[in-house]
Amino acid sequence: MAPTYTMAGSKGPNSYSQHSTYQRALLEVAKEKINEAISTKLNVNSASSRFNIADFGCSTGPNTFLAVQNIIDAVEEKYRKETQQNPDGNIEFQVLFNDHFKNDFNTLFQTLPLTKKYFVAGVPGSFFGRVLPRDSLHVGHCSYSLHWLSQVPKGIADRNSPAWNKDIHCTGFSEEVAEAYHDQFKIDMGSFLRARGEELVSGGLLFLLGSCLPDGIKMSETMKGMLLDFMGNCLHDVAKEGLIDQEELDSLNFPIYPAHVAEFKSVIEDSGCFTTEAFERISHANEELPLDPEFLVTSHKITFGGILETRFGKEAMEKTMERIEEKCQDILPQLANAKSGMQYFIMLRKN
Ligand SMILES: C[S@@+](CC[C@H](N)C(=O)[O-])C[C@H]1O[C@@H](n2cnc3c(N)ncnc32)[C@H](O)[C@@H]1O
Repeated sequence: MAPTYTMAGSKGPNSYSQHSTYQRALLEVAKEKINEAISTKLNVNSASSRFNIADFGCSTGPNTFLAVQNIIDAVEEKYRKETQQNPDGNIEFQVLFNDHFKNDFNTLFQTLPLTKKYFVAGVPGSFFGRVLPRDSLHVGHCSYSLHWLSQVPKGIADRNSPAWNKDIHCTGFSEEVAEAYHDQFKIDMGSFLRARGEELVSGGLLFLLGSCLPDGIKMSETMKGMLLDFMGNCLHDVAKEGLIDQEELDSLNFPIYPAHVAEFKSVIEDSGCFTTEAFERISHANEELPLDPEFLVTSHKITFGGILETRFGKEAMEKTMERIEEKCQDILPQLANAKSGMQYFIMLRKN
């Protein structure tokens, strides 16, 4: 089984729950669009009083609570408008929180909003497979999660393969590597859409938010790609000091692939289960990452620290973070030339 990568758990100072305001900003700007979409596009049987919402790739919170509350507020408003009745007591919301088994669900459940007016369940497991019963879901949501592939694509870590990748991610400069990542994306995204296509009721909505690449732009030309390359350089420094085995490092690849817009659209079309109601660039309140050494170290540690520690040990991971902090000033001028990536807002309606 391929290893799974989760965000740093707990509520502590180096946890995702304390350092996810960048991701949260997108949910805040999407609220209005979600409200409008639910008001005009959601077309589910209103005779049913139970309304099921799932957040796929929920992590530990608090962002997931905001995401589901935005959906609930919108459904309640629609209900009020359409029936002139109070939704309280008439609709019962059930929220299903999905993430990998290894996600820190304890923190998620311990920090549930005290004012919540919904029933809760965790549905652990990869969202590339089914996690819910057929025809049971009214609205699905997934933010900042679909750039994680299910596994490192085939050939990428094999020295004898034309797709062997010495970089730690898909920079976009090698055609063979890019093709292998794209192939894996097609498999994974196809599985994600097939699973959601079975779980959603007809007329139900699926909201997808996150980062992708405008067509023609390579990952390493964007700020996020440059930062991954920078982390790769810092790992090489640590290997030179003897704390990381160079061969091991050469075979390190992150299964991360923010797809290009055309690749995304094509896989949605091929799935055949959805009508695309929106595929838009959405502006992000924190479009530019705050580039101070502390932010860089913390964000790298929260996202990649666990993976690096498992692979190379705690000392090597800590040393890499020190290097990132020390060398941070070196890459700032380069980042000024970064091309823009893209934040997307996708709304799909189940046929
Ligand atoms: C950056 S976090 C985003 C969390 C939250 N949605 C937000 O917007 O703040 C990405 C989450 O996706 C989860 N994830 C990645 N691949 C997954 C998969 N195949 N199945 C379920 N969860 C997955 C990770 O474990 C992680 O919690």
